[in-house]
Amino acid sequence: MTKAIRAMEEDLKLVDLIIELVDARIPISGRNPEIDRLAAGKSRLLLLTKTDLADPEKTAAFSRYFEQNGIAARPVDARNKKECAQVPSMVAEVCRERIERNRRRGIVGRPMRAMVTGIPNVGKSTFINSVIGKAAAKTGNKPGVTRGKQWLKLNRNLELLDTPGITWPKFQDEETAIRLMLVGSMNEDVLDRQECVSYLLRFLEDNYPGMLSAKYGASSVEEIAVRKNLMLPGAMPDTDRTERLILDDFKNGRIGRVTLDEVPVRENRPENQAPSV
Ligand code: G4P
Repeated sequence: MTKAIRAMEEDLKLVDLIIELVDARIPISGRNPEIDRLAAGKSRLLLLTKTDLADPEKTAAFSRYFEQNGIAARPVDARNKKECAQVPSMVAEVCRERIERNRRRGIVGRPMRAMVTGIPNVGKSTFINSVIGKAAAKTGNKPGVTRGKQWLKLNRNLELLDTPGITWPKFQDEETAIRLMLVGSMNEDVLDRQECVSYLLRFLEDNYPGMLSAKYGASSVEEIAVRKNLMLPGAMPDTDRTERLILDDFKNGRIGRVTLDEVPVRENRPENQAPSV
């Protein structure tokens, strides 16, 4: 993590803007608050990815939450080229003041330079591929830029560093780790699968009642195994295979559109105090 952060700190010196990708199913558990320190002085755009898998109402609520805390946030399906084509205009919007400041200083026509960041599996490579489209050309090395850095020219106003910055989530507690595992941003082997599946089934029953029954006609591992005919010799439910199936179904949105994190309740801050997101 420290090495990745250091590499990112170096890259950040080269950019005006950070495009932070956050999985819309875990907009809190899937962020490292360290990014707010690293991003000081940079323009910000937060993109909620995998919105096709997340609860649409929660995605809207999270977008409002980030906006209220001073970070422009937009939902996006990183695989959708049409949606990603809107990003340059979003960038122009969040960089308006910076571009204006440059203009006053006589710097005109210099493209904004951006860097994509996010935790593993959030969709960074997918997003970069979608946003580049056919039009983008690699601009190659630039004077003063570390050798080997490639910039992708999206249009005459925006260039993207082709290597994304990888951040790692901050593990506040086991629940955070389970949520990361459920969306595929943490290796399954690290946690007890049975525990994660029980957590998921309980979460869905409490927060999305009826969703499990609609999908499987059952709501416990054993019952789902029977329904799916995942049995061991001796008519015993194959719980191991069933748990894998449930996890895979959830990760790929086949159970339903679910958001695991709750929108934080707004703190009552004294006036003029900077928000902490
Ligand atoms: P990363 O660079 O941040 O690590 O993520 P990457 O782009 O490799 O994306 C990880 C997986 O997430 C890919 O699936 C990709 O297709 C999928 N993905 C990215 N953005 C979206 C999105 O907005 N919606 C949905 N539904 N999927 C998205 P994959 O190659 O099949 O990998 P995996 O799912 O088997 O891990």
